[in-house]
This record gives sequence, structure tokens and C-alpha cells, in this order.
Amino acid sequence: MIFWGGATAASQYEGGFAEKKGMDTQDCRPYLPRSNNATVQTRLLSQQTIDEAKKNNDQIYYPFRVGAKGYEHLEEDLNLLKELGIQIYRFSLSWTRLFPKGIEEEPDKDGVRYYDQIFEFCKKNKIKIFLTMNHYAVPLYLVEQYGGWTNRLMIQYYLNLAEFVFKHWGEYVDYWLPFNEINAGYFSPYNGTGLVKPEDRAYSNQKVFESLHHQFIANAKTIQLAKKLKVRGQFGAMISCFCYYPLTSKPEDNFKLVKEEQINQWFCSDVLMKGQYPYYMESFFEKNNVDLKITENDKQILREFPCDFISFSYYSSSVVTTEEAEKTAGNLVVTTKNPYLKASEWGWQIDAVGLRTTLNKVYDRYNCPVIISENGFGAKDVLVNKQVHDSYRIDYFDSHFKEIIKAKKEDGVDVRAYIAWGIIDIVSAGSCEMDKRYGVIYVDGDNEGNGTYHRYKKDSFYWYQEFIKKQNERKRI
Ligand code: BG6
Repeated sequence: MIFWGGATAASQYEGGFAEKKGMDTQDCRPYLPRSNNATVQTRLLSQQTIDEAKKNNDQIYYPFRVGAKGYEHLEEDLNLLKELGIQIYRFSLSWTRLFPKGIEEEPDKDGVRYYDQIFEFCKKNKIKIFLTMNHYAVPLYLVEQYGGWTNRLMIQYYLNLAEFVFKHWGEYVDYWLPFNEINAGYFSPYNGTGLVKPEDRAYSNQKVFESLHHQFIANAKTIQLAKKLKVRGQFGAMISCFCYYPLTSKPEDNFKLVKEEQINQWFCSDVLMKGQYPYYMESFFEKNNVDLKITENDKQILREFPCDFISFSYYSSSVVTTEEAEKTAGNLVVTTKNPYLKASEWGWQIDAVGLRTTLNKVYDRYNCPVIISENGFGAKDVLVNKQVHDSYRIDYFDSHFKEIIKAKKEDGVDVRAYIAWGIIDIVSAGSCEMDKRYGVIYVDGDNEGNGTYHRYKKDSFYWYQEFIKKQNERKRI
């Protein structure tokens, strides 16, 4: 059986940016209109951006400080999710709502109370919990003081968070995810590891891979700690999947695909699932002048504490070629256009079969339970007379769900859950826009924080509700 669910992430959903919540890296990213090449600019977390953000200049809008105002609307939102009938809810914890600087010994009581409500609600309503312990945002204090994940010290601070979470909420969680999309640390360091870009220079490979290595060790040590504390639930790795195609059958295109897939998609999950660095990283590190300090103890901990399940986000597929070709956007990456596919307004190429292919590939590679931890369609919706007619989103769900069911029933992939991304409209992680909506629940707020922030059920809400109901009935037969 597949559990059907929905997801949000703290920095994109909560808001509730008061002095008590410490500032994190996402709180520093301003909204820049798209005409201003926003997707590129907001990807760069530089010291200058941070210094500007700390001034709290009210002429600049910081969307992650407002999110979807979930902090204020929590009860209403949870009731809407219950009405929708989701069987699994994926949400994340804001590290700085619990530990404002990331170094405190005791968490903030209000922060704890806020999350208590979600855990209790899910338990009472028999909604399974998929908990992301860290979804991109890194405490700014740790970044400024210690260089964030480039510093090994971060592992200990992360484990302090994990220990509190295990002791306080361990009994509620079914699926644990220490890090969202861990491979984003490579192709999108500002998100994945909260890495600050040196002025006028590209992110350094050395720093990127050091940061990732520290996250790998934190991941393994978190599982070790959970075992020691006898925490229930399973631990997962999550990657962003791109389903690569070669543009032509030219052998060079296909070979390039293999190399891109290794570094962009598989490298991080290979480490976390197989418990060691894959062979292909050795030559990559050599060519890119990366010299990691991997101790014998690191190797042992990775080997002894791999993840139990694999999860991934999938929105669109990608194309690889050695030639010059027309480009389009994908999730935090740029790719080549596929002549056979249509794309969203943001250029993400819609490919339901690609999801089935990805499920097969992921299962082939790791041979363990698989969870689609993010999928959905980002679109501009129009609210008219309190209604949103989002037939395009329903079509997207319908075509993708059919492929998931085929992957499970016809191909035999062990799919455990499907989690629709941004089930309630939230701020886009890539473009910082509110206009890029994924939800089945509309939130009346705009790119600059104007609006009532009232909630409205879209047509897709009723469609998904009906779909889940039917799945439940089938289960009972
Ligand atoms: C994933 C992230 O990369 O894609 C989410 O885990 C993000 O945080 C989602 O929101 C969709 O991307 P975007 O840029 O459309 O918000």
C-alpha cells in the first residue's frame, strides 16, 4: 500500500519571524522581481547579502520571514489537511525556532510548543509523520561564527538538535529525514549547506565537498544516536532526481549523461545508502583539486550507519548533450530542452513517465523502500470568487499518480509513500516567489507579502481528497 500525503518546509511555510526565532540563512534571501534575474541572484548567499539582511531594512522584502504565515494559521491548516484526508504529513523543524543561535543547551519553550501542536494533531488523527530535521535553513550564528558546515564542529551542534528531537518527539515519527535533498549541497550550496559565497568568486569545490562530508557524518551519527536511544521509525536519505536523457543516441551524449548523473544525482545517496564514497569520486576529487580529511573513524561510522530507505524529489526530467542546444530550467539546475515535452511557466519539463523511470532506477540501485518525498506542479493560480480552477495541476497529479501505480504494480518497485510538495501554497525555495504555487490549498499572499493570507480550497483539493478516499476504499476491499 502507498501512503498519500503532503509536505511543507519550515522556512517556506511558517513565517513567525520574531526576535525569538534566531535568524537563519533563508531569512537573509530577499525577494527580487523575476525581471531582475532573480533566480540567479537569490541563489547567491554572500556576506554582503547577509550584512544587508541584518539591517532589517523594511524597504526590502524577505519572503522567508513571512512564509505562508503558517505560524499564525497552524490550527486552520492542520484541520484543512485532515479534511483533505492525507495519510502522511512531511514537515520540517526550524532549527533557529528551537535553538536561536544553534548553540543553546535548552530549546526555546515557545518553539517547542509550536511543534508540539503538529505532532499531537497528527497522532490524534492517525496521520503518519515524515520529519525533515533540517530543510536547507542553517542558523546564521553558526555560519558567521564557525563557517557553517565547512566546520566539523557543526556535527556536534546538529547532534544536539537531534538529541532533543529524539527525546521529545521520538515516539511520534514514522520516517526520519536528517537532511532535505542532500545533493543540493553540490549544485545549490546556498540552499543545501547554507554556504556563503566569497565575494566575486564562485563557490569553492573544496568548501562544498567539506560541507557535504560533514553532513554525511552528521547523518550517520544521527542514526547511531537514534539506535542508542532506541528511537522508533526508519531513517532515510533524500536526493533531488532529474531523470536524465541523452539528447541523441550519440555515444558521447550518453557517456556525458552517466557522468552527470553520478555527480549531480547519485553521489550523496551512494554515500548514505552504501556507507562509503563511490569509486567515481576519487578521480573527480583529483581533477577538481578537492582534498578531504576523511578519517578512519569517519569511514567506520558511514559504514555502520547507512539509511534504511531512499526518498527523492522529482518535478521534471533533464537532457544531456555534448553539443550546444537550447536550455531550460529545472529544480535548482539548468538543463537542455526536450523536444518531446511541455514545460511549466518556469521551464520545468513535465514528464510523468520520467517518474516511473526514476522509481525503477532508484529501486534498482538501492533495493530498499522508496518514498517520493516531493512532487508537484508549480504554477500561477488565479483566485476568482474564492475559487481556483487548477485543472493543469489535476492533470499533472493524475498522470504522475498513474505512473507511480504502474511502477508499484507492474514493475514491482517497493513504493511506500507519495508526498505532494507544498500542499499549502508556500514561498518558492528557488525563486523566493509566492506566485509559484504548488498547493491544493490557496494562500492569498503575493510576492511582496501583501494579501489577507486567507486559505481557499482549489479544485485540486477536492480531486486529491477523492483520490485518497478511493485508495482507502480499495485497501478495505
Ligand atoms: C525542492 C525543495 O528542491 O524543490 C523545496 O526541497 C522546493 O524546498 C521545491 O520548494 C520546489 O522548488 P521551487 O524552487 O519551485 O520552490
